[in-house]
Amino acid sequence: MRPWWYMKTMSRDIGSEVDGGTGPAPEPGPSHELPSTLPARDYYDEAIFALETERIFHRSWFCVGREEEIPAPGDFLVREVTGESLVVARDESRTLRAFYNVCRHRGTRLCEGEGSAGRAFVCPYHAWTYALDGRLVATPNVPESAGLDRDQYGLRAVALTTWEGFVFVALASEPEPLERQMSRWSGYGPYRIGRLRTAHRDAYDVAANWKIIHENYNECLHCPKVHPELVKLIPLYRRGTLVEPDGIWGNRLAEGATSFTPTGRSRLPVLPDLGSEERGVYNGMTVFPNLILDCFPDNVFYSILWPTASERTTVTCGVLFEASTIADRDFDPRDVVEFHDLINRQDWSVCERAQKGQRSRGYGRGVYPPQDRYVYEFDLKYLRARGPAPHVP
Ligand code: FES
Ligand SMILES: [Fe+2]
Repeated sequence: MRPWWYMKTMSRDIGSEVDGGTGPAPEPGPSHELPSTLPARDYYDEAIFALETERIFHRSWFCVGREEEIPAPGDFLVREVTGESLVVARDESRTLRAFYNVCRHRGTRLCEGEGSAGRAFVCPYHAWTYALDGRLVATPNVPESAGLDRDQYGLRAVALTTWEGFVFVALASEPEPLERQMSRWSGYGPYRIGRLRTAHRDAYDVAANWKIIHENYNECLHCPKVHPELVKLIPLYRRGTLVEPDGIWGNRLAEGATSFTPTGRSRLPVLPDLGSEERGVYNGMTVFPNLILDCFPDNVFYSILWPTASERTTVTCGVLFEASTIADRDFDPRDVVEFHDLINRQDWSVCERAQKGQRSRGYGRGVYPPQDRYVYEFDLKYLRARGPAPHVP
């Protein structure tokens, strides 16, 4: 007898969904009625990572930061999307643009770091000069009469869009609508994320595949063991589930809690447009493949995943508040910042341990118990985006 949730949401072994399995067949055993996870190979194999880079990171919309990071004309950021360096900049008309970070003369890396380019990007090699909108406008000692049509050699543009203050780029020429990459929750409007501002940023180098981080985010079986402080704030998590009994999307905070702090209380004001239903609740959502948002009554916490290798991910995080809250001279977000950092470090520790086991001959692939239904859903989304893996002899 299959359990009801298996029939409804987890209808078959994950690998068979797309390509008939990408690793060893699941072994029959005491858990044979439960579906099997992705094969371990998907978490360390360089060929799989190359496939993900081509079919996911270089094809989907990929979050590269917040609009507020480049507020003025000439401001730019260099960001690496899995091996491809890009420049994201604001041009003279304040339009955001993204380009491949490469000079069209002989391929030199054009910019580094972040800052202001002034009115143009100047290549450090032979000083070819590009306007902020990417046009090639000067080629010292090489006049157009020498046969160089500057119109043909502007910076190569990359698709860019924004949503709620986040900047996304896509290397595909015709990316699908960003909405298709968002998880189902549509209740983020009252948080007014687009008008919030970043009060604090952190960056973590995590020795784990990017999917292990997503999978960890999508389940709470680990919460009672790994997050003793967190389960005090969200009592439901003591039961290892993310699903409220009455089916609401988010998770209720403990009585009187309004934030993620050691006590659940916060002196910071609640976001002004929240209704009563959001005031005692934590809501989470993702924009596949690399943005995770955690919405609380007084702040929104974001995590951007930067897969850098098959077993390594940089995670950059920020805490967003109302601009007026940040401007208050008594503004002190330390409680919130430190609590997010604590939860993150607890998560990274177990993600890194999970990564270590993937290469063991004693593993192969695991199993989804009912509480892992969102992990299963993430893995399905991943397989649909990635497609079949190359054959392993
Ligand atoms: S390589 Fe950039 S100007 Fe020559
Ligand atoms: Fe966790």
